[in-house]
Amino acid sequence: MTKKVFSAMRPTGKLHLGHLLGALKNWASLQENYQCIFSIADWHALMSEYENSKVIRGFGIDMTIDWIACGIDPDKAIVYLQSDVVEHLELQMFLSCLTPLGWLERNPTYKEQLREITSRDLQTYAFLGYPVLQAADILLYKADAVPIGEDQLPHLELCREIARRFNSIYKKEVFSDCRAILTQTPRLLGLDNRKMSKSYGNTINLSDNAKEVETKVVSMITDPKRIRKTDCGHPEECNVYSYYQVFAVKEAPEAYQWCSKALKGCVDCKKNLSAHINKDLSPIREKRAQLEKNRGTIEDMLKEGAQKARAIAQKTMAEVREVVY
Ligand code: TRP
Ligand code: SF4
Repeated sequence: MTKKVFSAMRPTGKLHLGHLLGALKNWASLQENYQCIFSIADWHALMSEYENSKVIRGFGIDMTIDWIACGIDPDKAIVYLQSDVVEHLELQMFLSCLTPLGWLERNPTYKEQLREITSRDLQTYAFLGYPVLQAADILLYKADAVPIGEDQLPHLELCREIARRFNSIYKKEVFSDCRAILTQTPRLLGLDNRKMSKSYGNTINLSDNAKEVETKVVSMITDPKRIRKTDCGHPEECNVYSYYQVFAVKEAPEAYQWCSKALKGCVDCKKNLSAHINKDLSPIREKRAQLEKNRGTIEDMLKEGAQKARAIAQKTMAEVREVVY
């Protein structure tokens, strides 16, 4: 049987280069060899955006458009909105009953987010249980593999532990272990050398136009030791150079030379880089613009995806109810 891959993203705003390189490229290639199920985790988004919930729907459609523009193909993969498949909540309930509080309280991601996100009150019952819903997402489809970023590994580990506890309590191997698929591409930092993230305002978005990309790239922090154009640079210490290694692989050795020998200034180096990024983004932009005109079609497509997802989900739930009662 074809192996199943499940992954999801929260619709909390515009997607950026980090999503493209860290996830979407990988997802698109997985579609060729696996039964892929990609979920727009709008209930997970609600856990942090409950006071600003009206934006979630629109973000979900935007995100679907970005996904498809980046090569996710609804004819190959199941693409759907989590809240269209109510079984997620039912399984979450069963799993909540057997998840020890200590597992959730010890979760490093949880502790970090409580510390870092101060703009919203996340001291809620639902937010503590975030990983239980995530486990339900994965187990509902009995996924064999889950492409995720490293930051999500603790959540996947919790998912495995919850699955094992379920099997052991109900004395049946309903759920099997699932493994992580980590992306190979190096992680790109944001414009200011911090992790690329919407909340830092340091992203290059898939929806940015060519001019915006150029302006942003020109604003990137460079080698701090290269103050004047005549100073030799240290490409290995410059974020711009790490972008060359991703977007202009062939030209990277040349960039290394012009930087370390002070043959070219940083502005030229960056303008040249932005041309490369724009070349990569332009087909995505075109597809995006096309899809944008037809948001209704996207909604229909998501409904179709939800039907396919539910067919799998209902089977799992029948089995779960059977072993529990
Ligand atoms: N928590 C994930 C994130 O923030 C999103 C997510 C929700 C997810 N459910 C999932 C990822 C299931 C993988 C599998 O990125
Ligand atoms: Fe960075 Fe390019 Fe400037 Fe070198 S020339 S410091 S790689 S921006």
